[in-house]
Amino acid sequence: MTSLLEVSDLRVTHRGSPIVDGVDFKLDRGEALGLAGESGCGKTTTALALMKLLPPALTQSGSMTLRPEGAEEPINLGRRTEAGMQLVRWRHISLVFQGAMNSLDPVQRIDAQMAEAIRLHSDQKGGKEVGRKISDLFKTVGLPVSAARRYPHELSGGQRQRVMIALALCCDPSLVIADEPTTALDVVMQAQVLQLLERLRESLGLALILISHDLGVLGETCDRIAIMYAGRIVETGPVRSVFDDPQHPYTKLLLDSLPVIGGERGLAPPIPGAPPDPGSPPEGCRFRPRCPYAKDECLADPPLREVAKGQSAACHFAPWKKWPDPRAAAAAGKKA
Ligand SMILES: Nc1ncnc2c1ncn2[C@@H]1O[C@H](COP(=O)(O)OP(=O)(O)OP(=O)(O)O)[C@@H](O)[C@H]1O
Ligand SMILES: [Mg+2]
Repeated sequence: MTSLLEVSDLRVTHRGSPIVDGVDFKLDRGEALGLAGESGCGKTTTALALMKLLPPALTQSGSMTLRPEGAEEPINLGRRTEAGMQLVRWRHISLVFQGAMNSLDPVQRIDAQMAEAIRLHSDQKGGKEVGRKISDLFKTVGLPVSAARRYPHELSGGQRQRVMIALALCCDPSLVIADEPTTALDVVMQAQVLQLLERLRESLGLALILISHDLGVLGETCDRIAIMYAGRIVETGPVRSVFDDPQHPYTKLLLDSLPVIGGERGLAPPIPGAPPDPGSPPEGCRFRPRCPYAKDECLADPPLREVAKGQSAACHFAPWKKWPDPRAAAAAGKKA
């Protein structure tokens, strides 16, 4: 089966400094891929690059090929002009922007805002047609149709996020990229929005790229996960394999830093240090300065390679059969 989206060597730079530094991945039809990593690692930049919506200060390169259902020829997003991308956005790929639910116009009723977007981006132009589309979309995302007559402040955060998801669906895309769709929501709303995304995947056969720094959220919703660090994917694989048997020290420490409900009281150990400045990344493995397992070999850049079935990691020492105690490993490393 050919993939819906294939991304190869995606790079984004700001005045020559890499922000996204050679990202490769594939996404199948109807598949959900989670993109995780600490703040500033390049998740939003990757999403914007896929849509070619980066601000002018940033430059992108690399190949991105989309094969929508029924299309005769693959769409080469990398080469598309702005006019060409306008035929792709909304119709084939939609992006729910980070923090988008707070960007609804506060003085316009929801239905008026939706009608404007639908007229702009879809073939539906007539008043009746657009009205029907809005009520269909509201039903799809589980909102009462009466909510369409309200103003944004009259809806809860979760309801506003549903409106944004409804908008993303207005031209029946095959891929929705949702950037931190649940971060601003309480846990109950968060669960509802995640269930909605899951339901949409099943009923519409939608593929999803879900961006979150919250591994718990991605674990519940995604088939596969890609962990980013300093502009690169350092580990990727099926969610269960990566969660149960991480193969990159960064993933391992990220998972160890999650609190365990019902576990021992006390704070989970944070990862020491901070991600590198994109302008001056460390030599070799970018995680080296923070990695308790780092050795001299790590001064050479580790490529992302398959280390278990379907699971790849960019670490010289993968596959890891057993993880040594990080504190003991760090102390031994210092002595050496
Ligand atoms: N317009 C810009 N000009 C210069 N640098 C930028 C610009 N946009 C993003 N960056 C830099 O790119 C890096 C990645 O930012 P990005 O927003 O992609 O991170 P993120 O992983 O989405 O983080 P978060 O979890 O906080 O949303 C950061 O170091 C940021 O400062
Ligand atoms: Mg972001």
